[in-house]
Amino acid sequence: MWISDNWKEYELFDCGGGERLECWNGVWLVRPDPQAIWERSAPDHPRWASPDGRYLRSKSGGGEWQRFSMPERWTLSYGSLRFHIRPMNFKHTGLFPEQAVNWDWAGEQIRSAGRPVRVLNLFAYTGGATISAAAHGAGVCHVDAARGMVALGRENAALSGLADRPIRWIVDDCMKFIEREARRGSRYDAIIMDPPSYGRGPSGEVWHIEDALEGLVMSACALLSDDPLFVLVNSYSTGLSPWSAGYILQSCAERRYGGVTECGELGIPVTASGLCLPAGNAARWSRR
Ligand SMILES: C[S@@+](CC[C@H](N)C(=O)[O-])C[C@H]1O[C@@H](n2cnc3c(N)ncnc32)[C@H](O)[C@@H]1O
Repeated sequence: MWISDNWKEYELFDCGGGERLECWNGVWLVRPDPQAIWERSAPDHPRWASPDGRYLRSKSGGGEWQRFSMPERWTLSYGSLRFHIRPMNFKHTGLFPEQAVNWDWAGEQIRSAGRPVRVLNLFAYTGGATISAAAHGAGVCHVDAARGMVALGRENAALSGLADRPIRWIVDDCMKFIEREARRGSRYDAIIMDPPSYGRGPSGEVWHIEDALEGLVMSACALLSDDPLFVLVNSYSTGLSPWSAGYILQSCAERRYGGVTECGELGIPVTASGLCLPAGNAARWSRR
């Protein structure tokens, strides 16, 4: 398991009974988690009963935030990176803390390349991977279909002191953008992507990751430069083994450029139990 254990301002304190108890820079949240199906280790911790905010699932699907003493928004640091945190739809906070281990890995690849690196970040959300890659010296093209998410990414870059870095902020459908970049002859040294499990394309077409992932990764890998560094595919699709994405990377990248493909789960350490909560998976190919 690849564990995001370098956080100072985020802590997953306890989890169990289908929920997690987290502290986000002093703000305690209780959120549903379908993986946390075991008993809580610290069921009597007072914050389980009185968090600053709790996301309650409704029986009809969806859910809503209960705000007790939760601010409208606040900030959270990861090293030199700073992010705005705020309660959002689908129990989200604007940041996926388990992704930090991906940011560190990609950052190390960029730093050790010792040359200018162009990164394409697809389904880039509020910019965690974008900002980390930029902080490690890369030029980044950040693509997300949601205008609001791209705006939050820009805000996070500014908050992290990276507003003047070479980041292109693109509001577009990822597949359409890849096709356009291919026609323009654009090339990237590294690609990061976090495609959703299910969704709709710009013309209402249904997207299932199991059907679409191979075509997406193949098209994206066609944008790789002659001396590419890495491709990272993150996924929260519980039905998809990390090796399903890994085998696609082997055929699209490893077979052509050499290097190595690794696959695994992402995890967050749980203070009260010492366990690690599984929180997604990733497949990554790197040249070196
Ligand atoms: C799971 S989130 C990505 C999390 C992010 N990688 C992180 O580290 O914080 C998925 C994102 O994909 C975007 N998205 C979904 N379908 C898209 C599409 N067809 N083209 C572009 N972006 C899309 C959503 O707006 C959302 O921001």
